[in-house]
Amino acid sequence: MGTNNELQTRRTAAIPKGVASQCAFYAAKARNAEIWDTEGKRYIDFAGGIGVLNAGHSHPRVTAAVAAQLERFSHTCYHVVPHELYIRAAERINALMPGTAPKKTAFFSTGAEAVENAVKIARCHTGRPGIIAFSDAFHGRTNLTLGLTGKVKPYKVGFGPFPGNIYHVPFPGAARHISAGESLRAIRNLFKTTVEVSGVAAVIIEPVQGEGGFNVAPAELIAGLRALCDENGIVLIHDEVQCGFGRTGRIFASEYYGVEPDIITMAKSMGGGFPVSAVSGKAHIMDAPSPGGLGGTYAGNPLGLAAVNAVLDLYEEEDLCGRSLALGERCRTRLENAAAAVPRIREVRGLGSMLAIEFMKPGTDEPDAEAAARVQAAALADGLILLTCGPAYNNVRLLYPLTIEDALFDEALDILEKALRSQA
Ligand SMILES: Cc1ncc(COP(=O)(O)O)c(C=O)c1O
Repeated sequence: MGTNNELQTRRTAAIPKGVASQCAFYAAKARNAEIWDTEGKRYIDFAGGIGVLNAGHSHPRVTAAVAAQLERFSHTCYHVVPHELYIRAAERINALMPGTAPKKTAFFSTGAEAVENAVKIARCHTGRPGIIAFSDAFHGRTNLTLGLTGKVKPYKVGFGPFPGNIYHVPFPGAARHISAGESLRAIRNLFKTTVEVSGVAAVIIEPVQGEGGFNVAPAELIAGLRALCDENGIVLIHDEVQCGFGRTGRIFASEYYGVEPDIITMAKSMGGGFPVSAVSGKAHIMDAPSPGGLGGTYAGNPLGLAAVNAVLDLYEEEDLCGRSLALGERCRTRLENAAAAVPRIREVRGLGSMLAIEFMKPGTDEPDAEAAARVQAAALADGLILLTCGPAYNNVRLLYPLTIEDALFDEALDILEKALRSQA
């Protein structure tokens, strides 16, 4: 396979630099929360392939389900010859969706594809073009989802023009000095200054922003959006691609809010490492596009759906949501103790096991991206992979497998705490 240095040289010659990698070592093997490089060094994985591995690397039950499906058939294209796996997975997700309205689910391959299709469905249902999104949102890297994304660098730079009829308003938060009421007022203001309300198809929001900094939407905002959408016939889309599938301690973060979104997009951890995504929503909205309007060659691929059904079994039988809450609690206590000794840490925030540590230059309102990068580097030197996030990359975010063994979790928290305390 080659040493890390050899692979780095080949990679530089063969792969465009726009395809960046955080780590300069190359994966050879991974199990649950551990990953080994081609030189045999072991790392604890608190990135989970960016939130994909709530059920860990190569969970034996997911692997077995996919292997068994591979023996049966790997592809028919659902639009040519359908299969029961799709129906079963849709029925199970419909049953898990918040609220009482009947639901329907369509499958795709990536998070961006799910978001694109949610927008298509909302536009088709309402007959309107406009979409309202939030600052610091991340919705994907396709042209439409880049248009929805509320962060220019590095995602949008050089890639325009983006589609029209997309309007951004500020996401609330203490660091931004914006309240939920101000965000809601910004939307109402849009209706006065920029777009007529009858031209708006959907509002899309991450209940907990992922790339944007693990910012938890205030209950007042979600309730206000629900009311505003109800008043004006607008579709409320919750993008749960990153915060879904148990990360926050509920299958969907939306469940914390006691409102029923019209549509939820999901991907990442629903497939246990296999590329599968979904759009689930109120049946009468999901049924707006006519036959043939939704889908794709690989959408609802049998291997991905075998993985989804196995992952759903795990959530039921191993109570991964309960585990998310328990691990999140343990982790938060350790982080808050460390934070008390490190003035650069402004906040430990999140829900369940979706936790981030925010760094600000002491005594200022200035994001401290360097401190977050130093923590990331120190942890990596000790064998722990961490990701950063937030508009200025001044947050360290945690996306560990919920299946992580207790002893390994403690080992990782020791490394993390040491790295955090080094910034005191
Ligand atoms: C909230 C959210 N939506 C959409 C996406 C895009 O998903 P994908 O990278 O699978 O296209 C992401 C990816 O990080 C995300 O976090």
